[in-house]
Formats: sequence, structure tokens, C-alpha cells
Amino acid sequence: MKINEKIFAAKTMLSDTTPLHTFLVKGRDFSVLIDSGVASMFGDIVGVVDESESSDIRFLFNTHPHADHIGSNKQLKEKYGLLVAAPVGSERWIEDMAYHYEQFCLPFPNILPHSEETKQDILGLMDGGSKVDLTIMEGITIQLDDETRLITLELSGHMMYEIGFIEQSTNTLILGDAITLYEGDLFPGHFSPRQYRASVKKLAELNRQHQFKQVITAHFDPTDSAGLNKHLLGVHRMIDQVDWTIHEILMEAAEPLSLEPIWRAVCVRMGRIYEFRGLAMVYGHLTEAVQDGKVLQLGDLYTVR
Ligand SMILES: [Fe+2]
Ligand SMILES: [Fe+2]
Repeated sequence: MKINEKIFAAKTMLSDTTPLHTFLVKGRDFSVLIDSGVASMFGDIVGVVDESESSDIRFLFNTHPHADHIGSNKQLKEKYGLLVAAPVGSERWIEDMAYHYEQFCLPFPNILPHSEETKQDILGLMDGGSKVDLTIMEGITIQLDDETRLITLELSGHMMYEIGFIEQSTNTLILGDAITLYEGDLFPGHFSPRQYRASVKKLAELNRQHQFKQVITAHFDPTDSAGLNKHLLGVHRMIDQVDWTIHEILMEAAEPLSLEPIWRAVCVRMGRIYEFRGLAMVYGHLTEAVQDGKVLQLGDLYTVR
């Protein structure tokens, strides 16, 4: 799929309602891929490289190290001899699959224990660990020719390590999961509401400044400046709603509660399924509420009363 004269996208459906996109940015000197999707997308991504008529695919940038963004790393590396670049800190998630599973799916094994099925589901999205050749951070510029330029942005919140890009010549904002889906039956998860809010604010400011012509993300359909604002508002409301819901649960509880009943009640009240991503997210909200003095932690128990 062609986004504009410089940018192409591969697309698959992760579920009936959730698309997954990866991107190619074409320069005259060299081209780059942004995210590698799931392992089964390899053929689609090769198709996009062919469609774009790019000759030199020099780098693959992983926006963050979640399975649906790094899944074809190994195959793409083998096919194009490209270098894999990922955010500072994300290396081990990409290189070591056992570590990936443990960090991602087992945030609290006493609440959600190891499940072979979940392990196979998640690891099956990726074609195996592969080496990260360089790590990148905010402010790095990738010059694909004299006018095509990618500027790197740091956008953590959903994940500890996440980057996005602005392609300057086409005024396009390119994101992985820096903004997540805010509706649906699953919490996409965010590890730090504070950092997520900061990234949402940063994107709103950048959008005011640049009025992005196109905004492309992993899990939303391509949109524009107005569409980005709508998504930012959706994410902002979701973060707030998780905070209010936790507060409400703690206000109504006769006694201090531990993480598990709080997480289960948040899922019920917000209509989401019980899953590891939501569990880590609720823990992140509780931790920061304790840091801010809004919730009192007594041992493993939380209270507002
Ligand atoms: Fe993600
Ligand atoms: Fe994703």
C-alpha cells in the first residue's frame, strides 16, 4: 500500500478489528523499514519492498520490542543483510526469546502463572531472537537522501522503550504503539501512566506545531492531524478512566485490597478481559498513585481510606 511518494505500508489483520501495519521509507541513497510485524508478515513486507522499487534496504527500525513489531526481524535481516536498530534498553527483548516471554507475560506469576499456550501464542508471533546492531534514542536523524529525513522521537509510556519518527519532506508522523487502541475488550497495556501522559502531551504539541499531513501507526488506519488529535483524546481519557476506576474501587472497599482484586475489578468495570497486559498496567497506576500520595500502600495492600 502506498501512503505517499516516499512511504509504503504492509498490512495484516491481527483480529477482526485490529490491523497491523509496518512501513517502508524510500530514499534515493537508501531505504529503511519501520517495524517487522509478525513472523507471517514477512512475505507482505517483501512485497512492499518490491512495490516501492527500493534497491538498498539498509536498516530495520523497531519502534519497540513487542512481538507484533519485531516478528520478522530475522527473516528480513537474512534476506536484505540490513542492520536492526531499536530503542536503547530494548535489546534483550529482541535477542532473547525466553527473557521476552518472562518480561512480557509473567509480570506477576503468582497471579497469572506460566501457561504453555500463552507462551506458544506470543513466541509464535516471532521468527526467533536476532541481534540488535545499533540502539537509538531521541534526536537521531536518518538522512535517506538530500531531502528525505527521519527525525527520531522518544515516546515511552505504552512500553519502557519506544520511538517514533517524523519524515520531514512529506510531513508524516510514523508511530508503532506510541498511541494504543483505547477501545475493545483487551487493555493494550501501558507500563507508566505518567510517561504515557507525557508522550500524549508531546505528540499533541508536535501536532500543533507541524499539523501533520499524514499520521501512520501500527494499529489505527492511516489518518491526519485531526485524526491524531481524536486518538490522543481517546488515550488521555482511557488513562484517566483507569485512575478513576481504581480510586472508586478503593473508596468502596471496606478494607485495603491487594493488586489481584483491584486488577480484576478494573477489568470488570471497564469491560476488559483478564490478561497480563492489563495486570502490569494496573500495577503501574497503583505504583504511581502511591508515589503521588493519592493511594497509601501498606505492605502488599492498597487503600485510600
Ligand atoms: Fe506494543
Ligand atoms: Fe502493537
